Amino acid sequence: MNPLKEDCRYNFILGDCLSVLKEMESESIDCIITSPPYWGMRTYDNDESEYEIGNEPQFINYVDALTKVFTEAKRVLKKEGSLWLNLGDKYVDKKLLGMPWRVAISLMDNGWIMRNDVIWHQLKGTQSCKDRLRDSYEHIFHFVKSKKYFYDADAIRIKPSKMPSMSKNGITSSTGVSGKKYRKLIHESRELTEIEKINAEKALDKVLEEIKNGVVNDFRMTIRGAQRAWHSNNTKISGRAKELIAKGYYIMRISSNGHLPSDVWNIVTEDTWRTDSHCAVYPEELLKIPILATCPKNGIVLDPFSGTGTTVSAALKLGRKGIGIELSPEYLKISQRRIQPTLAL
Ligand SMILES: C[S@@+](CC[C@H](N)C(=O)[O-])C[C@H]1O[C@@H](n2cnc3c(N)ncnc32)[C@H](O)[C@@H]1O
Repeated sequence: MNPLKEDCRYNFILGDCLSVLKEMESESIDCIITSPPYWGMRTYDNDESEYEIGNEPQFINYVDALTKVFTEAKRVLKKEGSLWLNLGDKYVDKKLLGMPWRVAISLMDNGWIMRNDVIWHQLKGTQSCKDRLRDSYEHIFHFVKSKKYFYDADAIRIKPSKMPSMSKNGITSSTGVSGKKYRKLIHESRELTEIEKINAEKALDKVLEEIKNGVVNDFRMTIRGAQRAWHSNNTKISGRAKELIAKGYYIMRISSNGHLPSDVWNIVTEDTWRTDSHCAVYPEELLKIPILATCPKNGIVLDPFSGTGTTVSAALKLGRKGIGIELSPEYLKISQRRIQPTLAL
């Protein structure tokens, strides 16, 4: 089945996602972003509750059900595609179950490669107990099918807020590094040989020149024996540890194109698309990085647990196509209504 007819930018499909995925062509989707129902949390407004995920008697059945869905999703995903999976946890009998990780490990055991465990810090959080801390985050796992996958890093770089500038110390990087302290450490080093000192100074001059010319925005220099190294000391796993032994220093450059976002995202939970239903809607803001980085322009984003259509809506706004699969006819109606303003643009 081809779920997206030519010239169509989106489709919402009513049904059980596992059955629908089974009908879909292999390697036809660029990116999957989804938030399945959490285990034992709530019953959605679905008549077809025999298919509804989240109501399994034991959590192990829930893990199995999701593993089946994402095994089928893997077939449907292109070789260079990505899956972003948002899952929440649950306490039973005072015990935190670790559900996101139980599912994630099962997916890894089934061949998915995990690239990131993003912490979605929801800022507000809920306080229901007095004998433990407030819950304020959920996981968003980024999985890929193969080691070579589509990733447009430039589309999500954070531009430096401060540019290099001139001060009484000469040119300084965006965080005020002038190189003076590094030069002193090189001179005073008892670890470096005279040749290593000369080479380290030359390298320092070179990076300062790059700062001056705007090629590099910022840098950090590590000198053997002078500072604590911010990497593994194991030369088998760290290229920087090798460089430090061989040359006596290394320089980490921060490009003026900006740096990549971290794996902690501070985004408040959705307020604007609240419905009367129990659907746990995630904010469109949460989908920006996944879509921009891992779905090519005009590519197809699929959400197998589409709910009120947040993923499809965000995909359309960012110039991608979207497919949502959802068990509830009510939520599909909401989704259709929701994307009308975007389609009118
Ligand atoms: C957490 S909600 C998704 C919310 C969505 N991210 C949004 O922003 O609106 C999970 C959805 O999965 C749907 N669902 C549960 N089992 C399903 C199944 N087997 N196939 C398709 N949808 C299913 C539920 O009806 C619910 O709408």
